[in-house]
Amino acid sequence: MNAREIRNGLKMLGVQDWSRRLFDSLIPLPDGTSYNSYLIPGNKKIALIDTVDPEFSEVFMKQLEGIPKIDYMISLHAEQDHSGSLPLVMNKYPEAVLICSAKAKPLLVDHLDLDPARIQTVEDGEELDLGGRTLRFVYTPWVHWPETMSALLVEDKVLYTCDFLGSHVAGTKMFAEDRPAVVEAAKRYYGEIMMPFRSAIKSNMKKVRELDFELVCPSHGPIWDNPETILSAYEDWASDTVHNKVVIPYISMHGSTQKMADYLTGELAARGVEVELFDLAVTDIGKLAMALVDAATIVIGTPTVHVGPHPIVANAAILANAIKPKARFAAVFGSYGWATKAVETVASMIPNLKVEILGAVLCKGEPDEAAYKELKDLAEKIAEKHKDL
Ligand code: FEO
Repeated sequence: MNAREIRNGLKMLGVQDWSRRLFDSLIPLPDGTSYNSYLIPGNKKIALIDTVDPEFSEVFMKQLEGIPKIDYMISLHAEQDHSGSLPLVMNKYPEAVLICSAKAKPLLVDHLDLDPARIQTVEDGEELDLGGRTLRFVYTPWVHWPETMSALLVEDKVLYTCDFLGSHVAGTKMFAEDRPAVVEAAKRYYGEIMMPFRSAIKSNMKKVRELDFELVCPSHGPIWDNPETILSAYEDWASDTVHNKVVIPYISMHGSTQKMADYLTGELAARGVEVELFDLAVTDIGKLAMALVDAATIVIGTPTVHVGPHPIVANAAILANAIKPKARFAAVFGSYGWATKAVETVASMIPNLKVEILGAVLCKGEPDEAAYKELKDLAEKIAEKHKDL
């Protein structure tokens, strides 16, 4: 697509990556993504915010063909999906100054071999006069790298946020228009990437709330034309509030752990507890991450393989530990053949989860009456705990 006008001469450039299905060789992108860049023409100076993934440099450079001059190239985040085309842009515009946060400068030099002499760092709150338009830089660190910042175009009331408040979704609509699919994509992105930085996000949200803006322009996904939608969603996701929900990621090899998962699900549902069940053999881990954003309890189901947890469960436990969901309670269940250390091993893999362990239900082979009774007791215990949420 060509550059598109947002309003008053402000433009959205960049590309829609319709076919990308994986980010960081880990995160599923069922809806693709976009890499947005934004052109800001002032009376005196012209600024460009962020670039695109280097895979699309050629398309991006074509978009820039009609733009004879860039005075300031602004890099809000040094990760390559936004910074990767910077060397080409800086070559095309030899007079351009690259603006970034203090922490971004060494990252941009190290990752992209950019000339440090052409990089000017800005402090939190510093302003850049473009002539009739002022860009104010607002440090919003740890979303999700240490150097990230946002930029407020003061007179136009537009906030540029890069990854922060973004969504991985490709599409031709420039504005989010409160579409549920975009909010879901934003939640998935938050769960996969932003959730480990929940406390930084809370501080950043407070800071952003003090700014005066009408549009939020992220560098992934459409522009939030009703910013309250994404602001209140982020505040909910990052808050300490958990929902009356249990997430059960599990694997079953011969059906026994499956029976336990189904039974526990039924007992929880009968007590008014919402359950999201994920068979890890077929699960989209992005969906799992999304469910973990606000669940009160995680119950992991695993059969035993070579005395430890099933490797796919171990993988999910490591992932859950990395994304640090705010769940308050956890439990484990599963079936084993002759001996098991699955519970101890799983527990050792999730030190980042600040949870109260509500128990472990293990059975040898098929679940028997005693195992079902223990699962029923576990459901009762969870439902009781959830009453105090
Ligand atoms: Fe979209 Fe952290 O890069």
